[in-house]
Amino acid sequence: MKKILLIATAFSIAVGAPIMASASPSGDLKAFRAYFKKRFPDVNLSAYKDGIYAINKDRREAWLEFEDFAPPYEDGVEYGKKLFNKAFANGKTYASCFKNGGIGIRQDFPYFDAKKGDVVTLEGAINACRIKNGEKKLKWKKGKMAAISAYMGYTSRGKKVNVKIPNDPRAIAIYDEGKRQFYAKRGQLNFSCADCHVYGAGSMVRGNLLSPALGHVTHFPVWRKKWAKKTFAKKNKRGPTDGFGTLHRRYGGCNKQVRAKPFKAQKKEYKSLEYFHTYMSNGLVVNAPGLRQ
Ligand code: HEC
Repeated sequence: MKKILLIATAFSIAVGAPIMASASPSGDLKAFRAYFKKRFPDVNLSAYKDGIYAINKDRREAWLEFEDFAPPYEDGVEYGKKLFNKAFANGKTYASCFKNGGIGIRQDFPYFDAKKGDVVTLEGAINACRIKNGEKKLKWKKGKMAAISAYMGYTSRGKKVNVKIPNDPRAIAIYDEGKRQFYAKRGQLNFSCADCHVYGAGSMVRGNLLSPALGHVTHFPVWRKKWAKKTFAKKNKRGPTDGFGTLHRRYGGCNKQVRAKPFKAQKKEYKSLEYFHTYMSNGLVVNAPGLRQ
């Protein structure tokens, strides 16, 4: 705790001028990238898809070994595929709800739906598909939802994140709200996402190296050792979805770290945050599911 506070003080000294003075999404994106280019001149833009492993060579080597040997998310992706292809009671499958049968489309989410006047996340579309076909909603943050989302992400590996902010005041308002969420100080520790993942990227907090926010979203849902252990401790048996969590699960975890109450998954706060956060990674390739500590 004391350490975190010390780091917080160090950050606020280092912050200086905010990097997001621009008023347009494309201007924001440019400034965001330029910041990281200056901060980590040796890291290529395309490498940011790997989170902390883009900026730390030793950790990257250990991670690649783990990833090459037998990635622990494989069973979950396989399970997600099975769920994805399993027919609903009416005989239809998820493929009927998505462009290209749901294969290789991760990079287009979240998107602004002009008819609804709202942003649609991949998980939101998965549950909307279930409801349309007379099935019950899945829980948002882990389990089957995360496995299906991980499979859909897996089929999109190599495609470039391509989030659009149309010139519609409703879309811009959601984007601006997401940006506000990202820079808002919160919790007893009074930290914003940007404090840790922009200004603090590459620093250590309680033994954790802080990842750059650029590229954060490309590998979600992720498989985390910590989450797998937690599930095992609870159930005392293993299942294919253990370890998986969606981006909103991670957002909640990061809010808790600063002793702030997390928002609910798939409500407007995290949906708008995801819209902004993902737009900032446009042009980077999807590499879900990621493998993390
Ligand atoms: C006190 C510092 C702190 C704050 C504030 C914080 N995080 Fe994190 N976050 C961490 C740590 C530590 C990790 C794990 C190591 C890493 O990947 O950065 C992490 C991980 C993540 C990851 C996963 C990265 C990956 O590659 O898998 C995402 C995404 C993320 N944070 C988003 C956010 C968002 C969005 C906010 C604001 C709502 C936020 N964080 C606020 C400390 C913080």
